[in-house]
Amino acid sequence: MKNVILDCDPGHDDAFAIMLAAKHTNLLGVTTVGGNGILENVTRNALSVLEVIGRTDVAVYPGHSGPCTAPLIIADNVHGKSGMDGPKLNPPKRKPETKHGVDFIVETVMHTDHVTLIATGPLTNIASAINKEPKIVERVDALYIMGGGAYAGNWTPAAEFNIYVDPEAAYKVFHSGLTIYMCGVNLTRQCPVTPEFIENIRNIGNPTSIFAAELLDFFAAGGDAHLHDACAVAWLVDPTLVRSAYLNVDIELNGKLTRGMTVTDLRPLQTAKPEADIDLDSPYRWDDAPQGSPFRGHEPNCHVGMRLDYGKFTQLLLDTLTSY
Ligand code: RIB
Ligand code: CA
Repeated sequence: MKNVILDCDPGHDDAFAIMLAAKHTNLLGVTTVGGNGILENVTRNALSVLEVIGRTDVAVYPGHSGPCTAPLIIADNVHGKSGMDGPKLNPPKRKPETKHGVDFIVETVMHTDHVTLIATGPLTNIASAINKEPKIVERVDALYIMGGGAYAGNWTPAAEFNIYVDPEAAYKVFHSGLTIYMCGVNLTRQCPVTPEFIENIRNIGNPTSIFAAELLDFFAAGGDAHLHDACAVAWLVDPTLVRSAYLNVDIELNGKLTRGMTVTDLRPLQTAKPEADIDLDSPYRWDDAPQGSPFRGHEPNCHVGMRLDYGKFTQLLLDTLTSY
């Protein structure tokens, strides 16, 4: 199993990322970042999820409480005051570690080979770790993120929440040279939380599944819920779940309407087919389209998730919850 550090802001969908990572990876630790809720709440929520699933062996390291360049924006309108409203939870028995999450990331990556980072919240901790020790870029196998969107956002018309909270951090990460797999909302909106899906989970009947169903009861009540963060872990666990394109992604920092946008250069996928605006099977790729070709685009730096196998995704999740 792959060595993984999960940086997250639980968050209902982050909880599913933890459940998947705890079962299918060698989860070296969880770091938390201000995002869906304030750091104290998302850290408590991470401890609670690990306690419910019986993985109190996985330590939780609080990271940054918010961006370095702007005040924290939280998504309490989606996740509630606690950051993970819905299930009735006792306070977790464990305390978080005293070591800072960024120090845990740097020390672990510098001393452990083949670590994969997964980030399902704002990229504040990841950018801070790169600033602290640039050598982690060459040591990390890959970074899987839930963030951004190839076409549009969700927090604003242009920007997805995780990137919008800390665009400067995202800019640092996307310009770092890390091997990045991006689960943007263009991909994660292909995994809706349906009433049938929730009942299938509830009917599994073990404590983890009941907890998962109660999370989704709240999360879906807000309407239009998707298991965004679970996609980032599922893609690592089963690479056949996602079809991606290797494209250039850059972060808009200054646009009045577009700050936080993951500007994705889709030109290599453009096609003359009248019925489709992009063609994942397009014959053109950046390095073989001639200079000046409309298909060339900017040099790629990111594997952009474009199509999700929803059936395989839901089966992976149901099988995982059944195994707890
Ligand atoms: O835009 C979706 C992302 O924002 C998810 O990571 C969700 O948990 C919230 O953090
Ligand atoms: Ca999240």
